[in-house]
Amino acid sequence: MRTYLVTGGAGFIGSNYIHYMFEKYGDEIRIINVDALTYAGNPENLKDIEGRDNYTFIKADITDREAIEDIFDKNDIDRVVHFAAESHVDRSITDPEVFVKTNVLGTLVMLNAAKKAWENPDGSFKEGKKFLHVSTDEVYGSLSDPDDYFYETTPYDPHSPYSASKASSDFIVKAYMDTYRFPANITNCSNNYGPYQFPEKLIPLMINNALSGRDLPVYGDGKNVRDWLYVEDHAKGIDMVQEKGRLFETYNIGGHNEKQNIEIVNIIIETLLELLPADDPRRKNVGTHLIKYVTDRKGHDRRYAIAPDKIKSELGWEPETMFAQGIKKTIKWYLEHEEWMQNIVNGDYMNYYDKMYGDR
Ligand code: NAD
Ligand code: TYD
Repeated sequence: MRTYLVTGGAGFIGSNYIHYMFEKYGDEIRIINVDALTYAGNPENLKDIEGRDNYTFIKADITDREAIEDIFDKNDIDRVVHFAAESHVDRSITDPEVFVKTNVLGTLVMLNAAKKAWENPDGSFKEGKKFLHVSTDEVYGSLSDPDDYFYETTPYDPHSPYSASKASSDFIVKAYMDTYRFPANITNCSNNYGPYQFPEKLIPLMINNALSGRDLPVYGDGKNVRDWLYVEDHAKGIDMVQEKGRLFETYNIGGHNEKQNIEIVNIIIETLLELLPADDPRRKNVGTHLIKYVTDRKGHDRRYAIAPDKIKSELGWEPETMFAQGIKKTIKWYLEHEEWMQNIVNGDYMNYYDKMYGDR
């Protein structure tokens, strides 16, 4: 039975990936989820999986070399899928240090532990072992030409402390591939949306605020563009790259689904009004009157857009969930999981919110 070590599996994309993998492979695989349970890690995301015999959760920090090496010593790991990271740009602007620690040093620790466990005495690597480093399109910087897209060959030009730390971690992975022929792949994906996303990110934040009648804080002129991908399509892409991708290659994953932020906010309002029953008390809160243009994010990248040509032509991957369908599914999920959101909002979240949005 193949054993996966997933890092950051209690976060947004990691938990969706674990759900996807168990749905696809059932009892054919074993997953060990290593997560430090930071503010972004939520065991509730995996509640329905906890009882499985072929699933193990280990609370550990990826920067803790001994703890990570111990996991490799005690388990014959075949695949690493490395999600664990500090992931929010706004937090990276106010507190960059933890981004460098987790994203750069943590990735190095993961690589070294895997290398130590997988390397043969002659410097080659055991058959079938693979490491997938999950990264972002933000490493490529901001597109100014409207006809331009991010390709795997686009030079790195990160601007935020978050994207700079992800770029650094990508380069460390590349260095291990080039220097040691370490068996890895890198995926650079565009913005994800879907269930279990922490409400510091645009889509769940706007859904939550609209339902509670709070302002919808749109940064700057609201015309920054992101390329949105339904999270399950990302999970599928990651699995396809690890199954069928050429080792040592980078694959961009994205959906040709560019939207301005203000369009997203308006779609969320319209969809909420469509889905909320007439007698639902939250309905009266929702409307465009909530939109509030606020001080822009520092160094705000204008446009991201992926050209997924390589993953499409080599592996046959394509986004399956069209945005109109995906956003409806996502909003329905948040409406049906009010308690999931309330548990977050009742924790430290409102302190974060007041600090981040209080002066805007
Ligand atoms: P997230 O913030 O929702 O989850 C991160 C997870 O990592 C959490 O469970 C957290 O507890 C864990 N973690 C953080 N620091 C850790 C540490 N030191 N040790 C162990 N675990 C730790 O993030 P996400 O949105 O699910 O993103 C996952 C990965 O995908 C990240 O590497 C991110 O850069 C990348 N990515 C995200 C997006 C997106 O739109 N969210 C797009 C492209 C790529
Ligand atoms: P976000 O979800 O933080 O993802 P990223 O910065 O990694 O792309 O933000 C998506 C876009 O939405 C980005 O252009 C910033 C903007 N945004 C707002 O306008 N208001 C908000 O409250 C947030 C969180 C984001």
